[in-house]
Amino acid sequence: MADQAFVTLATNDSYARGAMVLGKSLRNHKTSKKLVALIGPQISEPCQAVLKLIFDEVKVVDVLDSGDVAHLAMMNRPDLGVTFTKLHCWTLTHYSKCVFMDADTLVLSNIDDLFEREELSAAPDPGWPDCFNSGVFVFCPSLETHGKLLQYCTEHGSFDGGDQGVLNGFFSTWATADISKHLPFIYNLSSIAIYTYLPAFKQFGSNAKVVHFLGKTKPWSYTYDAKAKQFKGGVSEASAHPTFLLDWWTLFSSAVVPMLQEQYGDQPFHSGCVKDESSTSAAEETESQMSSEDRKKKWEQGQADYMGMDSFDNIKKKLDSFLK
Ligand code: UDP
Ligand code: GLC
Ligand code: MN
Repeated sequence: MADQAFVTLATNDSYARGAMVLGKSLRNHKTSKKLVALIGPQISEPCQAVLKLIFDEVKVVDVLDSGDVAHLAMMNRPDLGVTFTKLHCWTLTHYSKCVFMDADTLVLSNIDDLFEREELSAAPDPGWPDCFNSGVFVFCPSLETHGKLLQYCTEHGSFDGGDQGVLNGFFSTWATADISKHLPFIYNLSSIAIYTYLPAFKQFGSNAKVVHFLGKTKPWSYTYDAKAKQFKGGVSEASAHPTFLLDWWTLFSSAVVPMLQEQYGDQPFHSGCVKDESSTSAAEETESQMSSEDRKKKWEQGQADYMGMDSFDNIKKKLDSFLK
């Protein structure tokens, strides 16, 4: 249906990788819906080009930030203020109904039946099941609703500093009013739930339709050894189930990396994927030889190498050494 779409969001190149894998997974499972990516202006040219190959529509939007440091600190996720940007999805009024999906979700089977649901349908949040998780939700674009949501933000803010707090405040009867708006958990299986209720995962996990890599560590935070089919440094239990993580990386390395490689051409590009310990690609070689002045320039252009030299661990090591 041309007036129905799956929508995702990426404000930087790391989340853009997630969006690419999500888009590919929806296509692989033969969705008949349009695919839309909302992106921030920071996304690099090569990443925009790849997104345009996968999605029907790539729309640049202003990045909104809650700036709510106090509430975000409670979740230990200072980075999530920008998720207010998600609210732009209500402005896509050339569609009558949409399903929003976080860029850190992966589709495991066709989920077009979600379009039979009404606004606002979503699955429970694993941390507080009377709240819905805003990583997957059905909504109807409307400028009126968009306006009301922004007004709600101004008047009440967000109890978690991100979009999920706003949306649960706004659609506050979700928990009690209409059970048909409760999506089964298998449409948004948060990877952390696997470890908090392992027997249930063993019983029902094979029915999962969407896996959500919720939490600080994302699939793209890892370095994947494609030959050994292993992750360097191992996988932290809380972040993901190895099978789903492997599914993500298999799709990323086989379908997305070649597209990125083509778009980056001779520019240095770090896939996060190593073939084996000893071989370093030409691009990786160039990158390690890049002068600190060049790296500074890339940082300032919003093109930090989050997966490599500028990874969180490396930044933390540097800060620790200063503090000592
Ligand atoms: N997001 C983004 N840039 C950011 C942080 C988040 O584009 O810097 C988008 C992206 O679509 C992401 C969603 O907002 O999937 C929600 O953030 P995240 O998935 O990290 O939250 P979690 O599900 O881990 O709570
Ligand atoms: C959540 C959701 C995510 C949302 C974030 C901030 O944990 O998974 O989609 O952006 O909270 O509210
Ligand atoms: Mn998420």
